[in-house]
Parts: sequence; C-alpha cells; structure tokens
Amino acid sequence: MPTNQPHDTPAPDADFGFRKVRLEQKQDLVDDVFRAVAGRYDLMNDLMSAGLHRPWKDYLVSMVNPSRTRPFRHLDVAGGTGDVAFRVAQAGGPDTQVTVADINAAMLQVGRERAEKLRLDEQVEFMEVNAESLPFPDNHFDAYTIAFGIRNVPRRDQALREARRVLKRGGRFLCLEFSDVDVPVLDSVYRAYSFTVIPAVGKVVTGDGQPYRYLVESIAKFPTADAFCDEIAAAGFQRAGFTKLTGGVVAIHSGWKL
Ligand SMILES: C[S@@+](CC[C@H](N)C(=O)[O-])C[C@H]1O[C@@H](n2cnc3c(N)ncnc32)[C@H](O)[C@@H]1O
Repeated sequence: MPTNQPHDTPAPDADFGFRKVRLEQKQDLVDDVFRAVAGRYDLMNDLMSAGLHRPWKDYLVSMVNPSRTRPFRHLDVAGGTGDVAFRVAQAGGPDTQVTVADINAAMLQVGRERAEKLRLDEQVEFMEVNAESLPFPDNHFDAYTIAFGIRNVPRRDQALREARRVLKRGGRFLCLEFSDVDVPVLDSVYRAYSFTVIPAVGKVVTGDGQPYRYLVESIAKFPTADAFCDEIAAAGFQRAGFTKLTGGVVAIHSGWKL
C-alpha cells in the first residue's frame, strides 16, 4: 500500500515543543537546548519568572521536609544546576545527603561549581544520569523531587516508574512543573508573555531565542494537572494529588510509595 513515509523511517511519535519528532530523537534535541543555555540558565530563571521560581522551589522543599535529626537520603532528578538540591541540603540536618541526577554534563558542571562556592559539596553530589533508567538500588531514597524537568523526559511513564522503584516505602515523590493556568485573564496574559517576552529575553541573554521557544512550547504541550495526576497514579503511587501555585502557572504534584 503506498504511503508518504519511507519504510525505514518510523513516523514521528513525540513532541519537541510544537514539532513532532521521533521518540529516540527527542532526548538529543533536549540536550542541545540545555547545553546551549547552561551558563546563563540561573540568570534566565530569575528573569523569566521575575524571581518567582525561588518561592516555588522553597514551597517544594517545605513539602520534602527533610529530617533535621536523622539520616535523610534525597534524590533530585533533572536537578540541573542544583537549586532544589541546595535547598534540601540546607533545610535538612548534617546527615542529609542529596544526589542530583541530570543527563546534561554542562548543567551539572555549573551545579558543581555552585556547590563548592556554597560549601555544600560534601552534602550534594552530581551524577550524569537519565531519569528513565536510574542507576540506584530499589527502596533507596527517602524522597524524590523533579523540578521543571519531567516535561523534557521523552518516556515520562518510565521515569515515573523508576521514581517509585528507587523510593523507600513511605517515601514521597514531588514534582514542580508548569501547569494549566485557571484564572480568567491571567491565562491570556501569561500566554502572550510566554510566547513573546521569554524568547526575546532569551535571545538577548543567551544570544539565541530558539531554546526558550522550545521551553515555552513544551509547557503548552504538557498535560493538565488532572491528567498528569492520573499518570502518577498509573505508575503505582498512592494518594496522588497536586497543589497549584500562582493561579496554576505551576503545580506541585505529589505521590507516596506506600
Ligand atoms: C528546566 S531544567 C530544570 C533544572 C532544575 N531542576 C531547576 O529547577 O532549576 C531541566 C533539566 O532537565 C534535564 N533533563 C532533561 N531530560 C532528562 C532526562 N531524561 N534525565 C535526566 N535529566 C534530564 C536537563 O538536562 C535540565 O538540566
């Protein structure tokens, strides 16, 4: 039967922003984005969110609530330059150990340098790791976070199953991610801001607006908070739920391994 697709070229089956790509291609494209922005990533976060990513991350870490008196082993996946990991280390006690697992060496290198400056390099380690296949034993971590990372992972279901596998019984999964704005007017203002201001600022600060266009498009393609909650439950987490912040600009999803 005639088709437009050559036999040896599989059909595109993944979203890279608004582009359809093959699932196997998506990770390389994502890696190019974060390699391009790594050096200016932290500055861009402040500019893009008007500093709001800081209270959002503080809120996430308050939900992690690391023990100040007992050993606490934390995993921050897609942890990039260490923002969440440093907060967990500072909130916990001296026996809190944090592992940052990220697929991108350039982002991790920025994180390692920041950890040294903050004198947190004893407590926070950085590892080059794919969220879809974690090199850790079963039942190993007390808590798992992923902030602004899950929408970049090609096989989200696999990453969620891996999250559950490495958590101890009683351990908590927490995900901070952009979400669906549910406040009238704010949704259209936010959309206009994302698609015009963010790529323009990205171009000025990093010299290229394209990576930030991808980031904005990937936010628009991410499932609604309810749909993502169903994915968390489907991965085997219990008491899956979410809290929206800033009118739904972001949401924190939670699930327990019980
Ligand atoms: C927007 S950054 C978030 C960094 C950090 N969590 C924060 O909130 O500032 C997304 C990160 O996801 C990482 N990433 C993308 N795909 C990944 C994968 N399959 N496994 C692990 N990390 C991944 C990128 O390398 C990048 O550092």
